[in-house]
Amino acid sequence: MASPRGEFSSRFGFIMAAAGSAVGLGNIWGFPTQAASNGGAAFLLVYLFLAFSLAYPVLMAELIIGRHAHANAVGALRLVSPNPVLRRVGAATGVTGLIVASFILSFYAIVAGWMLAYCLAALTDLVGLTAASLWLTEFSLGRNLAFMLLFMALTVGIISEGVQQGIERWSSRLMPLLLVSLVLLVIYVLTLEGAMEGLQVYLLPDFERALAPGLIVKALGAAFFSLSLGVGTMLIYGSYISDEENLPLLGGLVTLVDICIAVLAGFLVLPAMYVALHSGVEIFTASGALISEDTLIFTVLPRLFDSMGLVGVVVSLAFFFLMTIAALTSSISMLEAPVAYTIEEHGLERKPAALMIGLVIAMISTAILLNFEALFGLVIAVTTRYGQPLLGFMFCLYAGWVWHRDTLLQELRKGNAGAEHGLFWKIWPSYVRFVCPCIIVLIFAQSLLS
Ligand code: PFF
Repeated sequence: MASPRGEFSSRFGFIMAAAGSAVGLGNIWGFPTQAASNGGAAFLLVYLFLAFSLAYPVLMAELIIGRHAHANAVGALRLVSPNPVLRRVGAATGVTGLIVASFILSFYAIVAGWMLAYCLAALTDLVGLTAASLWLTEFSLGRNLAFMLLFMALTVGIISEGVQQGIERWSSRLMPLLLVSLVLLVIYVLTLEGAMEGLQVYLLPDFERALAPGLIVKALGAAFFSLSLGVGTMLIYGSYISDEENLPLLGGLVTLVDICIAVLAGFLVLPAMYVALHSGVEIFTASGALISEDTLIFTVLPRLFDSMGLVGVVVSLAFFFLMTIAALTSSISMLEAPVAYTIEEHGLERKPAALMIGLVIAMISTAILLNFEALFGLVIAVTTRYGQPLLGFMFCLYAGWVWHRDTLLQELRKGNAGAEHGLFWKIWPSYVRFVCPCIIVLIFAQSLLS
């Protein structure tokens, strides 16, 4: 039976939901181009190393604290210590996480809205509505607002349905669909002329570039964003896991799925760029670097799709559909964090809570859209470059220093009776205590300096 506050009904459901949160625009959009311009396979290795050595331990801190408390981030961090000051600092950290999650969602919904608009543009193209396609693919306040609102409405709709009927049901439907469309797109693009050249750029290692100090920091930030860390989303998903589950195993699987999809996305995006180059589309900037981020997704790839005729329309539809799904399974996790908080700490019903917080976030998105030049990049930088690492640092302190080791072990024993003899227990507690906070402080110092 599901608990009154909601619980994932199966291990599969949790993995789909948590992997859904992790796999998002960051994987398909950010990772491949970063890898391509920063040492290819060498960057990949650095990223893999950091994901397992830093992001996974922090993910585990969130999951374990969440499952132990079976509560939202604020309640859970308050519960970790009996000391009144530490309880207050814990609650404040939780609240800050929820605010950061809401701001991440406010820019994420704008970008996801563009994906949705491009997805629809492929459909209007298919039926010959050229004027509509043009409106959908041109940057305008009207289009941006309309699709941000539509995307937020989808997110609110899913969260209103609750943990099993909303988050679990939709993640379990959408994630397999995402994987299938990604694999099909990769197979198709690899058959096109120029694809192998892109594959070479992606896979040839250049260690000198990948090991440059600034880059390691970048890869670290990417790993943090990619695993949705620091803002309480993984904590709240952890709080919905049943006590019978083996947490280190589940966390490991989620990390693995996240990394595999990022790597797989590289097999799509890089070859696609070089296919575009073969059809005469410019893929390098004036300084000779590969075009990345928004120009890549909204200029280079659509030009490539255009040059492919009718097949291009179908491929474009599949690609932007894939991006929309990836964004939606992430956005629901961001909204769930503050919604669970208002339900549990302020006694609101789920539906009005989801609607109210959705509206507030849509208002922040609107403010960003109205001051796009000034706010868009700023909100991204403050939340992901500073907010997430700093909050991740606090989670490590609470899991490593504040929380009593015996309680921690008891929590791990719930899903694995011999937890104290396992490798995880031998390494993780001191790792999250010493190594993780030091590395995060380094990233933070570096991003402040640059
Ligand atoms: N992990 C998501 C991505 O890679 O796109 C982004 C994200 C989701 C960040 C949820 C933060 C969050 F709370």
